[in-house]
Amino acid sequence: MLEDKVLEEDWLVACRSTDVKDKPIQIMLMGNRIAIFRNSKGVHAFKDLCIHRGAALSLGEVKDDCLVCPYHAWEYNSDGACVTIPQLPKGRPIPKKAKAIKYSCIEKYGFIWVNLAGNEPELFPYPEMEADGYRNVIWGPQEVNAKPPRIIENFLDVGHLAVVHSGFLGTESHREVENYNVHWEEDRIYSDEIAIYQPDPDGSGKPKYVYYTYEILRPFTVRFTKKDKETDQLMTILLTIQPVDESKSIAYGILSFSYDPGIIDEEIISFQDHIFAQDKPVVENQKPEELPLDLQVELSLVCDRVSIAYRQYLKKLGVQLGTA
Ligand code: FES
Ligand SMILES: [Fe+2]
Repeated sequence: MLEDKVLEEDWLVACRSTDVKDKPIQIMLMGNRIAIFRNSKGVHAFKDLCIHRGAALSLGEVKDDCLVCPYHAWEYNSDGACVTIPQLPKGRPIPKKAKAIKYSCIEKYGFIWVNLAGNEPELFPYPEMEADGYRNVIWGPQEVNAKPPRIIENFLDVGHLAVVHSGFLGTESHREVENYNVHWEEDRIYSDEIAIYQPDPDGSGKPKYVYYTYEILRPFTVRFTKKDKETDQLMTILLTIQPVDESKSIAYGILSFSYDPGIIDEEIISFQDHIFAQDKPVVENQKPEELPLDLQVELSLVCDRVSIAYRQYLKKLGVQLGTA
């Protein structure tokens, strides 16, 4: 189990909503094995461990709203209380200690979110998901052999667009990044609009400037909105990272369009996969693997203001996982 008080008390993405059907599944969160299951009351997350003999509850089944252990069929209700032990003779009480360890769990924006500390803070807002006329596409999972802060910072990095994604999200001829600021409001950290020259941002084959606004929502959840000022079309990508274990992460996203992008979901997803595949080898090989929060450790430029803000934010919150 990886220790990080800040993250344990936050909502972390565990999987997509569509991953949890009628069978329980196992996911890994900060080195913890977790069983997630769905019953008539919603989704629930338990430590994936039966107190009887340590079996993985996720290998069991859901029956009458209870999670049934695969080994001796003890039945746990939504609160984690064991309500049936088939081996006990009739009339014998169920031992008080017969319980599963329950975590807080909610389903929103197409994902399942788990809070390891059992808290229920408000989840960050994502208005695009509820807005009329928006098309939202769920992206991921994408496994990455890197720690979440490096993956998040890559997403917030303006300067690499015309290098790593040259021909897609930038062009070699326009690598300069104009000056911009980052604003810290009470619960919001966001950048000015940053002009990025893209070869074909709207599918018409015509290169032009689009404007990116980055926003830091949570330690492992960030977004940007790309604006086309000629058409007022907006595209937002939300990125959220599941910290799996010491070295592995899983990236998920939501791609939101205020307009009809004219392609089917699978094409949108495969384009994003392609972009992500360009970033992956870079991110998986960065050293140190932990994001240095001391700003003197790496050499930042003015155009790195968003990633500097991200480092300052993690430091302010006291995030340990994946930072140095
Ligand atoms: S190990 Fe779960 S019921 Fe025995
Ligand atoms: Fe990238």
